[in-house]
Amino acid sequence: MERKEFIVKTGAMITAVALLSSFKGITGISKQTKQNNMKNKRPSADDFSQPIMKAISFGINAPNPHNTQAWKMRITSDVEMLLYIDENRLLPATDPPTRQIHIGSGCFIETLRIGALGIGYETKITYFPEGPYELEDIGKKPVAQISLSRKENIEKSQLFPHIFTRQTNRKSYHGPMVTTKEFNHIMNLVSETHSEIITMNDYKKMQPFLDIFSNAMRIEANTSKHLWEETRIWMRWNKKDRLNNRDGLSVPQSGVDGLKKIILEGYLKNGDPKRWFSERVIESSLKAYTKGIKSSKGLVFFKTDSNTSLDWVKTGRDFARFHLAATELNMYLHPYSQVLQEYEEMDKLNTKFNKLFNISNGGKVQMAVRIGRGDKPYLSYRRNVKDYLKE
Ligand SMILES: Cc1cc2nc3c(=O)[nH]c(=O)nc-3n(C[C@H](O)[C@H](O)[C@H](O)COP(=O)(O)O)c2cc1C
Repeated sequence: MERKEFIVKTGAMITAVALLSSFKGITGISKQTKQNNMKNKRPSADDFSQPIMKAISFGINAPNPHNTQAWKMRITSDVEMLLYIDENRLLPATDPPTRQIHIGSGCFIETLRIGALGIGYETKITYFPEGPYELEDIGKKPVAQISLSRKENIEKSQLFPHIFTRQTNRKSYHGPMVTTKEFNHIMNLVSETHSEIITMNDYKKMQPFLDIFSNAMRIEANTSKHLWEETRIWMRWNKKDRLNNRDGLSVPQSGVDGLKKIILEGYLKNGDPKRWFSERVIESSLKAYTKGIKSSKGLVFFKTDSNTSLDWVKTGRDFARFHLAATELNMYLHPYSQVLQEYEEMDKLNTKFNKLFNISNGGKVQMAVRIGRGDKPYLSYRRNVKDYLKE
């Protein structure tokens, strides 16, 4: 059925044989993917025979802004595809230049690459194969061409198993600060990067950044309605809503669970704007947010010397690898992107933030993230693989 769909969608000639049986057992993925199946939230590589489809099923586990999963693929052979941004899943209010969405495509590419290694394939990536594009060409021109090639005795990445366990965690963190030794361990696993990764574990030095993160969130929630509205659009209000859409954000994803989750979801009345924009909801969200910020056990920043679409995609790859490496050490991450965002209401605070980094000559902090240990959060959904395929 998958093959039929594939041919219908792409019109491509498929020549390779089904390889599924030869991968089983070699990969060791069955247990992890079954776990995800059990939860019925993520597609499983075991459901596909074409290497490229398996690779996609790994890639979509990647972190991505608001979990909009703005990925669109055109399959061009059993082992090749073109990756596009899905223009219907952008965040125009909070991500006007589509910088974060492109970081999310880099996260997809890196997660796919590590996943493909796990099943014996090397990945070749050609960025912007039809050249860099303007905003109006998003979704029409590809971000990358991706080709897999089979290699005997390939060395799997140590990060492979964490594709299935990595999660953004917005709960409060507990335990000790991240040590310099732990940061070094993570950086060794990450190895070479495009962006400069700056780590901090001295709470006193972190304090000005923590204050900025709190203020930035207040600006996003409180100043212009359309910014807070964008989060409302991507919220999924109950179990059924999450199951039907298989994307977006939710109360449990924000770190609220148990009775509190039931009460809050009931109060929010399926996103009734009167409730969502009420002072009560905004103030309690900000309070919870600040509590999370204060519990940071370290900070990580991803900085580039220029700010091109290629910087965005490559930083996404660095971030995805860092996230998987932190997972290896049983640590969680939580990005704080508000202060980095390119809309007028944030300009003043963004300038203050950039001064702390001596940013000049077109450089940019692409990601700002807290790190620490915490209780396991709610697992976010991903759509079914066929839903990403471009007509
Ligand atoms: C570029 C980028 C920016 C993000 N910014 C934020 C953010 O500001 N706040 C937040 O809570 N999560 C942020 N996230 C995390 C995503 O919301 C998260 O990856 C997504 O909801 C999927 O959940 P998962 O990471 O647990 O799979 C960001 C992720 C990316 C890739």
